[in-house]
Amino acid sequence: MCGIVGAVAERNVQGILLEGLKRLEYRGYDSAGMVVQSPDGNLKRQRAAGKVAALEERLAAEALPGHCGIAHTRWATHGRPTETNAHPHQSGERLAVVHNGIIENHETLRRELIASGYAFSSETDTEVVAHLVDQESRVGDDLFDAVKRTLAKLDGAYALAVMNAQDPDVIIGARKGSPLVVGVGIDEAFLGSDPLALLQVTDRFIYLEEGDLVRLSRGGAIEIHDSSGRVVERPVQTFEHGDGAASKGEFRHFMLKEIHEQPAVIAATLEARLGERRVLVESFGPEAAALFDRVKQVHIVACGTSYHAGMVARYWLERFAGVPVQVEVASEYRYRRVVVPEGTLFVTLSQSGETADTLAALRFARASGYLGSLAICNVPGSSLVRESDLTLMTHAGPEIGVASTKAFTTQLVALMLFTLALGRIKGLDEAVQAELVAALRGLPALVTRVLALDSQIESLSTAFAEKHHALFLGRGVHFPIALEGALKLKEISYIHAEAYPAGELKHGPLALVDSEMPVISVAPNDELLDKLKSNLQEVRARGGELYVFADEHVALEEAEGIHVLRLPHVHEALAPILYTLPLQLLSYHVAVLKGTDVDQPRNLAKSVTVE
Ligand code: G6P
Repeated sequence: MCGIVGAVAERNVQGILLEGLKRLEYRGYDSAGMVVQSPDGNLKRQRAAGKVAALEERLAAEALPGHCGIAHTRWATHGRPTETNAHPHQSGERLAVVHNGIIENHETLRRELIASGYAFSSETDTEVVAHLVDQESRVGDDLFDAVKRTLAKLDGAYALAVMNAQDPDVIIGARKGSPLVVGVGIDEAFLGSDPLALLQVTDRFIYLEEGDLVRLSRGGAIEIHDSSGRVVERPVQTFEHGDGAASKGEFRHFMLKEIHEQPAVIAATLEARLGERRVLVESFGPEAAALFDRVKQVHIVACGTSYHAGMVARYWLERFAGVPVQVEVASEYRYRRVVVPEGTLFVTLSQSGETADTLAALRFARASGYLGSLAICNVPGSSLVRESDLTLMTHAGPEIGVASTKAFTTQLVALMLFTLALGRIKGLDEAVQAELVAALRGLPALVTRVLALDSQIESLSTAFAEKHHALFLGRGVHFPIALEGALKLKEISYIHAEAYPAGELKHGPLALVDSEMPVISVAPNDELLDKLKSNLQEVRARGGELYVFADEHVALEEAEGIHVLRLPHVHEALAPILYTLPLQLLSYHVAVLKGTDVDQPRNLAKSVTVE
């Protein structure tokens, strides 16, 4: 999704902006651009369709020296991913804007601006902002006030950065519905849609609030006005994770690095949250115990991979905490008339904490009579974290690969912690609590053992590279894991993949099974194994090639057309976490064989901050 970088510094900013754009590449984008105020006072712009490397080539041919500039990676929403649609957009020669989000009333504004004599050179919604600010800055001179008056005319969600040649060495930033942070330097100030974009210049950040407007000026001055126009001080926070997170280290791709980080980040997510025999409810915050006591039901809302984590949690919460659970994708939930029974806790799951649909669902839920809200999230300071009553952070560290891996397994760990915390309050048997706490402690070591199977999984992947379709099967709590396996494969290898609860096979998908359809099954040693075995026979009887991930103790033999990969024995309740790993590795190796852009798959974005 789109990314913003801005800098007002004592040094030349081109390098800072370019490095920032490179660090934002992981979000997914299809063009990039930059504007810098050159020493003669004029704005100079370079843009390119495609990767940041294409922009870098242009800059190598014609540099943009100067002390103040803004830059952008664009993920097309309004208009094709061409150079003319790339940001920054300008009004005349003196005003430039970069924008994340969507201006919903852009058509009306465009008509009005055309009637006032403005000519448009792009198909984007953003260009209306440039012309509007220009129009407003002709009324009064100050850019800050011109932007403020412009915002009052905009409907939709945005993070904006604006420069005007007549206001030298000043950047105005605005945030409503899309994240924006200010990087605090020594006599320098920066703007970014994500702190990662600025870690090369600072680790001190101000997370802007909804409706904030900020002026960054030469010398490092930062002035913030809140939505009511008052001057406010916002806390400066030090970024928690080291800069190493933004580099691939010894790995070929971020995704592979992140898969291999899972033992460490699962351990970090468990840290300080487990007592001897129980989960520490206080790790959810001081008010958690009283709130959990009143919980009679749970609604879980999320998108993408996070939604699959929610589906797993439904099985856990109903089984161990005995409360009814509903799980729904946020984009559906937010437009539905939802009945909220008394005593319902609203739970959101999100890696980024900035997914537009999940945030909108939370805001809708806050006005819908829920008992309270809990966010399970990976990004401290994100909108979701700030707007929820309770939070439980997953300590996955920055996730750069667009296809989510370590964020998912740490979400599952956090959801098991939540299950046990709620279960403890709802009277879950103490021996069961102690058994699961012990199993959680042993999980990082088991994950390490699964990662050691990498070369075996790599060998399996060769059978998939030429296929066009794949079917994933799971039963019970492993059905969502099958869904996640299918999602990973389609996201990064572009192979069409579907997942079914194994019992549904005969109600339709069996018609698709032939020797060209590999079938992947997650079959740990649980109570549904025997039933799953007969489903596998149904596949084999139609010539389908079977790939089964199974417990080391399962009596399931390799045979012609049946490939079995054995995983270390794990407590059956935690099996969904462990069985996710081989599916991640399988997708990864298939994608590498197919030569796709593993970390930045086509058309996808890491953090979907528009609806
Ligand atoms: C995008 C990403 C997915 C992610 C989903 C939800 O689609 O590509 O990997 O699962 O958004 O994101 P969130 O940050 O809310 O977990």
